[in-house]
Amino acid sequence: MSAVNIPDMLRIVHAHGLKIISLDIDIETLAPKIQLIDTLVTERTKVLVVASIYGRRFNMAPIVAAARHHDLIVIEDCAESFSGFDYLGFEGSDLALFSFGPIKHHTAFGGAIAKVRSKDLYEKMSSLYEDDPIQSHMEYLKKIIKYAIAYILLDCPRIIKPGMYLTRLLNIDHKKYLIGMMRGFPDKLMTKLRQRPCDALLAMMTLRLAEVDPTAISLSNLKHEYVSQRMPCSVTQVGAKADTINHWLFPIVVVSDFVYIAISKSISLLFFCAVKSGSLVMASDL
Ligand SMILES: Cc1ncc(COP(=O)(O)O)c(C=O)c1O
Repeated sequence: MSAVNIPDMLRIVHAHGLKIISLDIDIETLAPKIQLIDTLVTERTKVLVVASIYGRRFNMAPIVAAARHHDLIVIEDCAESFSGFDYLGFEGSDLALFSFGPIKHHTAFGGAIAKVRSKDLYEKMSSLYEDDPIQSHMEYLKKIIKYAIAYILLDCPRIIKPGMYLTRLLNIDHKKYLIGMMRGFPDKLMTKLRQRPCDALLAMMTLRLAEVDPTAISLSNLKHEYVSQRMPCSVTQVGAKADTINHWLFPIVVVSDFVYIAISKSISLLFFCAVKSGSLVMASDL
């Protein structure tokens, strides 16, 4: 599995009794270091899961070729990199997965799309899927209300600032709580994953995907480019040399909080939402 992914993806693998071998990625391109594959693969290795993270993409052709050399199935995790219909997974990948969970650009507050290469596999997956229960409309409505509240709170400095002050005073880890709130399936992960979407979620996905606007994506990229060009050289911009750079997140590596504050002032950003403990900075709505 390429070395950076969300904890739930690891949970899914473990829930199937499988072991993960981590494949390091290049900090500049975010591509897996394919030269390491030969040293990591054993006769028990079956699948290579490659995530294109932070909205960046890289050439999958050499990765798929290296995987084929070892007879590995290739799963492309594109959850963070959907940016319209110009890229729907590499043609050689066995499975390409796209997600429309709460923090995604084209969120439908849930739902996903899987592109399956082999017809046989697709039919097997479809027949398993037919047995899954359908998510209730009430459950989907509860999700929308929860995310709407979280969105309003996060987007309103008058609430979020004193709230953060209070949680710090009470020694509550507000970040852990918020991240938990934004996770697609905070509890009963495997049970909730094995549900089919309700009609309302499908209708929302149809609506959201019909609205995908390449101009909005280009505009967002331009704004991020503006910021990127003004970053001091001492800051490492993660994924800056990826083949395709769409900005779902704008991760940078800094040496201390002090540097983070200096950067925000020097480039006069409207606002930065910082996840400081990981030295990860998300640029929101620049
Ligand atoms: C790399 C990656 N894989 C998988 C997922 C799962 O997507 P979701 O639970 O939103 O469908 C996410 C969600 O953020 C992700 O970032």
